[in-house]
Amino acid sequence: MNNRFFSVAALLIGTLMLMAFMVPQEKKKGGPWEIPQEYVTMENTYKDDASLEKYGKQLYMKHCRSCHGNTGEGDGPKARNLEYDPGNLADAAWQDGVSDGELYYMSIIGRDEMPNYESKIVDEEERWAVINYLRTLKK
Ligand code: HEC
Repeated sequence: MNNRFFSVAALLIGTLMLMAFMVPQEKKKGGPWEIPQEYVTMENTYKDDASLEKYGKQLYMKHCRSCHGNTGEGDGPKARNLEYDPGNLADAAWQDGVSDGELYYMSIIGRDEMPNYESKIVDEEERWAVINYLRTLKK
């Protein structure tokens, strides 16, 4: 046992600790949403308003991109600091399984780390513009 042994051991332990710190932490899954029936069946009265797609994009980039990423895949700059997995909004199977009203509830009412946007996106037309834009992210 000499000093060199301890130096090497300390270096090794230090490196391992650094590596453990750098490995991304597995995010918690929020699980299925409990969405009130009135939202599930809520009608999107702005469904075919093509101009909203552009407008929706602006709102998405302003409010949602930071966590959900440019393409909705959940890789925005703030995502790494989230405790919960923001999911993949572009996932086709997931999109097919949710109604516009359900998207509205998740996007505007939110839960836990998913912020509430009722006071930030006030206009009904703007809210649906965001939903219509989310639909364009599907792939
Ligand atoms: C601060 C980060 C953050 C921002 C900003 C944010 N979200 Fe989220 N979002 C999350 C997280 C985290 C979840 C997962 C929450 C859960 O499961 O409890 C989530 C979940 C969702 C879901 C449900 C996804 C799923 O797989 O169940 C939708 C839809 C959604 N967000 C839309 C939006 C929209 C639209 C905006 C902008 C208006 C937005 N989010 C802004 C963090 C964010």
